[in-house]
Amino acid sequence: MTKRRILIQLDTDAQASVFDAVVAIDAGAERLLQYANVKPEQVRDLVHGAMYTRGPQDLKNTAFFIGGSNVVHGEQVYRNAIDAMFDPFRVSVMIDCNGSNSTAAAAVISASRHLDLEGSTALVLAATGPVGQRVAKILANEKCTVYLSSRSLDRSQECVDQLLGQGIPAHRLIAISSADQLWTDKAIRESQVVFGCGAAGVRLMTAEQLEQATELRVAIDLNAVPPLGIEGIGLTDKGVQRGDRVDYGALGVGGLKMKIHKASVASLFESNSRAIDCQEMMIIGRDILAREKTVS
Ligand SMILES: NC(=O)c1ccc[n+]([C@@H]2O[C@H](COP(=O)([O-])OP(=O)(O)OC[C@H]3O[C@@H](n4cnc5c(N)ncnc54)[C@H](OP(=O)(O)O)[C@@H]3O)[C@@H](O)[C@H]2O)c1
Repeated sequence: MTKRRILIQLDTDAQASVFDAVVAIDAGAERLLQYANVKPEQVRDLVHGAMYTRGPQDLKNTAFFIGGSNVVHGEQVYRNAIDAMFDPFRVSVMIDCNGSNSTAAAAVISASRHLDLEGSTALVLAATGPVGQRVAKILANEKCTVYLSSRSLDRSQECVDQLLGQGIPAHRLIAISSADQLWTDKAIRESQVVFGCGAAGVRLMTAEQLEQATELRVAIDLNAVPPLGIEGIGLTDKGVQRGDRVDYGALGVGGLKMKIHKASVASLFESNSRAIDCQEMMIIGRDILAREKTVS
C-alpha cells in the first residue's frame, strides 16, 4: 500500500505557522504533524523519529518543513536536521522561515526576466533582514556585484562577512550605510537593479533617488505596507515598464513566491534526499517559468 505523504512542520515559534500549514496541504501533503517552539538541540530525536518508522523505499513520503520567524534558529534547526540523517534513512527537508527563501528567490527570478544578472550591479536596500540577506546571496551566486545597504555599516559589513564565510568572492560584495550619501549615490548611479527589502511600512528610496538611477533597468520593492519601500513603485506592479525600467511591487512578486513555495513542498515528496533552501528554490522557480512559457 502506498504510504500517505506526511509533512512534519518544525517551527521555532510558540505556535506553528498557520500560513505554512495551509500551503502544505494545498501543495499535496496528506498529513501534517506540527511541532512548535522547536529548539535546535531537540531536532535530532525528532528527525530520528521520522527516519526509522518507514522502510527506506517509503521514506520519500515523509518530509520536514522548517519555519518560524527566527531565521537564525530556523537555519540551525535545518542544519541539525540534515546532520542527523544518514543513508539510506534520509527524508527530504525544506527551510522557508517567514517566507524569506521563497520571497528572495521569486524577487531575483523576477529581475532575471528582464536583465542578465551576471556582470550586473545590484543595490539591495535593507540587506540585513532575512529576505535581504538571501537576495544578496543569490545575486552574488549569479555573479552580480552587490551593494548591501543598511542604516548601520557594521550590520551590512556583518552580512558581507557571513557571505564571505560561505565562499562568495569578496569582489562581488560591497557593504554600505544608507546614512553615507556619497556611497549611496554611487550605488544608485551604478546599479542596474535595486531590491527594496526593508521592514513593513519603511520608505527606503525616494522618487527623486529613483530618477537619479539612470542605469536602472529593474526595481523591485517587497514591502507591502504603506509607505512602500521605493516611492513610485505600485504594490501590484508586475513587470510594469516605466521608461527604461521595469517595476515590481510586493504583490507583483507574491504570485511567483507562492508558486515556488508550493512547488518546493511538492518536490519534497519526489525523493527522500531533497534539501531545499533559497538556492534550490531558484532552480524550482526557473522550472516553473520555463514550464509556463512552454504552455503559453
Ligand atoms: N510577499 C511575501 O510573501 C513576503 C514574505 C516575507 C517578507 N516579505 C516582505 O519583505 C520585506 C523584508 O522582509 P524581512 O523579514 O527581511 O524584513 P525585516 O527583517 O522586518 O526588516 C528588514 C530590514 O529593514 C530595516 N529596517 C527595519 N526597521 C527600519 C526602519 N524603521 N527604518 C529603516 N529601515 C528599517 C532593517 O535594516 P537595518 O536595520 O540594517 O537598516 C531590517 O534588517 C518586508 O517588507 C516583508 O513584509 C514579503
